Amino acid sequence: YLPAIFAIVLSYLLGSLSFAVIVSKALGMADPRSYGSKNPGATNVLRSGNKGAALATLLLDALKGWVPVFVVNHYGSHWGLGQGTAAVAGFAAFLGHLYPVFFGFQGGKGVATAAGALVGIDWLLGLATGCTWLIVAIFFRYSSLASIVAAFFAPAYYLIGGRIAWPLDLTVLLSLVSISLLLIWRHRENIRRLAAGTESKLGSKTKK
Ligand code: G3P
Repeated sequence: YLPAIFAIVLSYLLGSLSFAVIVSKALGMADPRSYGSKNPGATNVLRSGNKGAALATLLLDALKGWVPVFVVNHYGSHWGLGQGTAAVAGFAAFLGHLYPVFFGFQGGKGVATAAGALVGIDWLLGLATGCTWLIVAIFFRYSSLASIVAAFFAPAYYLIGGRIAWPLDLTVLLSLVSISLLLIWRHRENIRRLAAGTESKLGSKTKK
């Protein structure tokens, strides 16, 4: 069990790097926890008007979800680690993003990190879920709604894909379901705003 625990703890620590805060600080921008939705994530960094910073946040937050899954999948077999542990490592990075040990456990909503983990688990699964996000985002212009819908579909895609493309693994499925449930729960404020019609559209800047 030791290699698995080691991999999971390292993944959590990596996930704890809140890149919205790190990138903003590095660029001398305001802390994303101080404006817009106050969420340390790419969507909120975009509200600052700095597209490059938002893109960097998106890519780095996704990378920290992808790296643990990829590393365990490709090098874990030497230590007896399989795809189940890889998925749990992705979940650990996601948890790190939500509850980062380096940032007082005040993290984000985990969308980019979950996306990275999904691509690591299976690129086709990542692609299908990413396309779902994109379609909803293009039609409705709400990042949060796109994320919630994509989170809903990701485990379903894994189940469907499991019947045709890859053998189903219960640990992978449970990791995906856990990620989706937590991700949707972290969007509860957004869900309230969506219902009230006060959610801000994707890319609209914060006034001030
Ligand atoms: O990346 C999280 C996104 O789905 C919602 O972010 O800032 O609008 O709460 P935000």
